[in-house]
Amino acid sequence: MSTPAARAEVLRAQLDEHNHRYYVLDDPSISDAEYDRLFAELQAIETAHPELLRPDSPTQRVGGAPLREFAEVRHRLPMQSLRKCNDEDELRDFDRRVCETLAISEAGYTGEPKLDGLAVSLIYEQGRLIRGATRGDGETGEDITENLRTIRSIPLQLRGAVPPLLEVRGEVYLPWDGFRRMVEEATARGEKVPVNPRNAAAGSLRQLDPRITAQRPLAFTAYAVGYSEGWQAPRLHSEALEQLRVWGFPVSRLVERLVGVEGCLRYFEKIGARRAQLGFDIDGVVFKLDDLAGREELGSVTREPRWACAYKFAAEEAETLLEKVEFQVGRTGALTPVARLKPVFVGGATVSNATLHNMDEVERKDVRVGDTVIVRRAGDVIPEVLGVRLPDEAARLAHEARPRIELVPACPVCGGKVERVEGEVIARCTNGLSCRAQLHGALIHFVGRKAMDIEGLGEKLLAQLIDTGRVASAADIYTLTVEELAGLERMGEKSAANVVEAIARSKQSSFQRFLFALGCPQIGETTARDLARHFGSLEALYAAAAADAPTEHDAALKDKDRFPLLRAVPDVGPTVAAHAVHFFTEPRNRAVIAALVAAGIEWPAPKAAAQGVLTGKTLVITGSLPGGVSREQATALIEAQGGKVSGSVSKNTDFVLAGEAAGSKLAKAEKLGVPVLDWAALQRLLEPAA
Ligand code: IVH
Repeated sequence: MSTPAARAEVLRAQLDEHNHRYYVLDDPSISDAEYDRLFAELQAIETAHPELLRPDSPTQRVGGAPLREFAEVRHRLPMQSLRKCNDEDELRDFDRRVCETLAISEAGYTGEPKLDGLAVSLIYEQGRLIRGATRGDGETGEDITENLRTIRSIPLQLRGAVPPLLEVRGEVYLPWDGFRRMVEEATARGEKVPVNPRNAAAGSLRQLDPRITAQRPLAFTAYAVGYSEGWQAPRLHSEALEQLRVWGFPVSRLVERLVGVEGCLRYFEKIGARRAQLGFDIDGVVFKLDDLAGREELGSVTREPRWACAYKFAAEEAETLLEKVEFQVGRTGALTPVARLKPVFVGGATVSNATLHNMDEVERKDVRVGDTVIVRRAGDVIPEVLGVRLPDEAARLAHEARPRIELVPACPVCGGKVERVEGEVIARCTNGLSCRAQLHGALIHFVGRKAMDIEGLGEKLLAQLIDTGRVASAADIYTLTVEELAGLERMGEKSAANVVEAIARSKQSSFQRFLFALGCPQIGETTARDLARHFGSLEALYAAAAADAPTEHDAALKDKDRFPLLRAVPDVGPTVAAHAVHFFTEPRNRAVIAALVAAGIEWPAPKAAAQGVLTGKTLVITGSLPGGVSREQATALIEAQGGKVSGSVSKNTDFVLAGEAAGSKLAKAEKLGVPVLDWAALQRLLEPAA
């Protein structure tokens, strides 16, 4: 008779094996009843001997205790996105660039389905799942380990020989049968029905209660190895995918090795033809350079690697009746004509509103109320009206008899004057934050997850606070009290206290979040980050905006000579600079910012750039470095010594760090006479002088 510990061990191994056969290989070898029996036996042992319970036990997939919030996780390597190719020409451009950079005549790629779900990162230590996170903004995601543990096709324990540290990346998605089940259940319970599998998967993963996630039939497919330690990566990505299978991960059976752009085009056709029979949503295919050393050579541009691309299927279209056109006012005052449609099912969801973008588009398409229009919806993109459908002369005559759609003279929300600046396509309400719609939009943006992240202060609550006159600017949020909030509709003592607590918590922020939250037109998350990094403080940003503020004599300047201080920020061009200068010199905005800072919003002071033997030097890395040293690790080392790493070689490059199989960058360095170091030479340079 074995001990309970030994028996539990055996049962766990058997259940893992059957799970793997069922969810990964799709080849079960025992009946469901037999599986349930083994499962119940393990559960009984773990209940009687709680000390034997481990987080990676197969019984733990039912979901543990609910969380209050998700913790943030910084990805060791950024989770990048994919460059999109919309047609054959763009795909050929992509391939040409790959071949030219690598100086080869034909490239080998993998073709993979582009699964329509959510990217996740899974971290394994000594083969055990210890953390799982969402992609987030690519640099930081949310810790959703407990939810991911409930997904049966994610191994909790890897098989065979594994490296001490391994990150695996892949997609979590909801297959169609699971989605149908969710829709049926939600309908039966009278709950909100999810619009498409992707949204349903996203909602399921972001549940604070893992027991709910456990009931959702989510699936996982691995598509890459991320960070690793103690693992000698193979030469090819396709070999890495094979290795992932050996470790126990589900890898798509649709993955193929392809030769050249012609191979890619054939693959695209083939997968497109099978799309309806797959049983899950894909929105295109992904092509990735198979050769891993070549990827290093190609590098990345603005979060997109040059070695991969997504070739998307054409968006779906449908016809329906245009019932009316209304104007929506956004947070910057922009008036967007919105088509109210007879509901129609397209691109995986029922659509009853679609954007008409702006008045130029309305005129160009000449859609009129009562027309039959063509609507397009692709993935998560806002549905749009493409144009009118006039199949015959009668339809054309009816169309001609209807009045054209005109821009409203006054803001539909506040009655303010609507202006369309010469040369601009966008019409705006000129009332600024005195317009309720603009204030509401600005505040929704301000409290958003990527901005000040004030949970519980939702659209409806903000609307009440605006309508009662209690909140007239973002700064007023910081004066709200529990008593005041508790008195509002649908708010109890408890939720009011939670909101006030969330407001207080938001005061510990970061400069980049704060800049983004302010909602200056054209300043999105990335630009906010770049501004924060470049200027480091509000004072420095104000000084630059003041110095760059246009004077009369500027009118004579060429575009490229305007706003020199703001344009010194990476990726900031004349439009962004003009908006930033206007926004940060505007007295009303300055007053709100001052009030926010006075309310206690603060962020850590910027870290001074490291100083060291490489201070002021720019390096370029090329080829693969010895001992599996990644490019990110080498970059960190160089930056710690005050150096900068750049992507391309120019006459301003001080050194090129060259590894194995270095290609065109090394050639260029030699041509320009830039000194070349190998890894050992860099090490010697960094050694403290004896
Ligand atoms: S590779 C740099 N492979 O597409 C490499 N991504 O736009 C980025 N996706 O966030 C990821 N199927 O959610 C890769 N076979 C596949 C994919 C895939 C779907 C998604 C993923 C990612 C997005 C990139």
